[in-house]
Amino acid sequence: MRFAIFITICSLVTSCSNKFEQVVNSEEDYQIIPKPVTLEMSNGRFLVDSDTKIQYDSDLKNEGSYLAEMLSLATGNTIVSSADTDQGTIMLKLDNTITNEEGYTLSVKFDKIIIAGKTAKGVLYGIQTLRQLMPSSIEKGQVAELTIPAVHITDSPRYQYRGMHLDVARHFYDVDFIKKYIDLIAMHKMNTFHWHLTEDQGWRIEIKKYPKLTEIGAFRNGTIVGHHPGTENDNKKDGGFYTQEQIKEIVAYATKRHVTVIPEIELPGHSSSAIAAYPYLSCFPKEPTVVTNDMMSEKSKELQAAGTPKVVQETWGVFNDVYCAGKEETFTFLQDVLDEVIPLFPSTYIHIGGDECPKENWKRCPNCQSRIKKEGLHDEHELQSYFIQRIEKYLNAKGKQIIGWDEILEGGLAPNATVMSWRGTKGGIEAAKQHHDVIMTPGHSCYFDHYQSKDKDNEPLAIGGKTTVKDVYAYEPTPKELAADEQKYILGAQGNVWTEYMGTTDHVEYMILPRMTALSEVVWSTKASKDWDDFKWRLEHFKNRYDNLGLNYAKHTFKSE
Ligand code: ACM
Ligand code: ZN
Repeated sequence: MRFAIFITICSLVTSCSNKFEQVVNSEEDYQIIPKPVTLEMSNGRFLVDSDTKIQYDSDLKNEGSYLAEMLSLATGNTIVSSADTDQGTIMLKLDNTITNEEGYTLSVKFDKIIIAGKTAKGVLYGIQTLRQLMPSSIEKGQVAELTIPAVHITDSPRYQYRGMHLDVARHFYDVDFIKKYIDLIAMHKMNTFHWHLTEDQGWRIEIKKYPKLTEIGAFRNGTIVGHHPGTENDNKKDGGFYTQEQIKEIVAYATKRHVTVIPEIELPGHSSSAIAAYPYLSCFPKEPTVVTNDMMSEKSKELQAAGTPKVVQETWGVFNDVYCAGKEETFTFLQDVLDEVIPLFPSTYIHIGGDECPKENWKRCPNCQSRIKKEGLHDEHELQSYFIQRIEKYLNAKGKQIIGWDEILEGGLAPNATVMSWRGTKGGIEAAKQHHDVIMTPGHSCYFDHYQSKDKDNEPLAIGGKTTVKDVYAYEPTPKELAADEQKYILGAQGNVWTEYMGTTDHVEYMILPRMTALSEVVWSTKASKDWDDFKWRLEHFKNRYDNLGLNYAKHTFKSE
């Protein structure tokens, strides 16, 4: 009799705890982007409720807290994470048998979830996959009964560099948006944020030794209206900058999400804002800044009439007024700036620009010409190479490596430079053949400032071009021109977001989504698994997550492909 009662209670308990054990899942339950390397579906679902506890290896506190926060928001319960409990039904652990530094395994059973990574970064990626196995409404915290389908996944990225760039100089975006951007990068298992901080139209990073960089250089007195060259000047002061404290806050935030922040301090071109602040950096400090087609703001015209020739640029394009390569003061200034930049960014890389530097001023500048003679250089291209190599040497001595746009190939590549190939793939191919590391960002596939459909009339103003989500998805970062032993120099790829025509954060979101989602699969998933129809099917599902995260995205691109 007692035995019979025991059996009954036991079977009751068993049937309670096993309510989800036999649930049959379908392919619909596993729509993950980027597509994992292997995924085995099985039956049963794990219930997340108030009894769920997360147990983590002691080095995974950050990841435990991240997941606890996600599940707490999703369920409305406080989900605890701890290193000390032995009652964890979700376990996060490090596993040395995983070979890829960013790799992970994820096992979900009806009564246990285990996420293992070679490193904490891999564990975070496992959590991002787990997130996508949950309904997109978790992003808003609206799930009454949250269950996760059983699965076994092994996963690792195809490329080590998976980046998103953002130009915060043509338009400035606040700290909260930068954090949101970093969250998006992490959600897509991308790992690098290339932060374009200085430009003709604005200097965005506080440099204590040169306060005018932000007092003067961070603001312009107006901006052209419409597509370049524009119809008029809006005569509105525009700008902003990040204090060093804010930069530290953002870098710390990114570090928690395993996103490396690479700052770009552009040189020798695209330097009008620095020159407006410190005119001696120009070859010709007394020559007034020119805004093409007489589109200068009233305020800047007044300043120039009153004897201030240099102003922050108000139109878009490429300008002749660049850093003087002849004066020693230019190098002192840039080294001082870099001395303040270096401690703010743990990244090994610093991007030094190098693109679109006209040589007109250097050709007529006595200082630049005497530098050419003194250094035995042949022409202004070699002068640019001298400039870049000098900065590289300075940064290498401080333990940093440079990345430059592919123009740094002209006149001779700096010995340790990594090349970012943007004018198509030619520069990347050439650099890889010279055994330099390369990051691919060719305009046709990776420029998210382009229009994204055939129907430009139904899109907001963009710089030009056309790069559809399908074009991005079709991109193959490793050029076929490279021999097998040269392919290893292709570190990965990046989406570039130049923001001349993106005055709001909503607009930035619209331009990157869904193209960034396509790129995330290009740089993570295996080449063999590429399948546009399958991706499109998963993207339809993924867009619900955009909706629940309150993100703006290019909805029409779902119809047009
Ligand atoms: C670039 O788009 N000028 C690198
Ligand atoms: Zn000069």
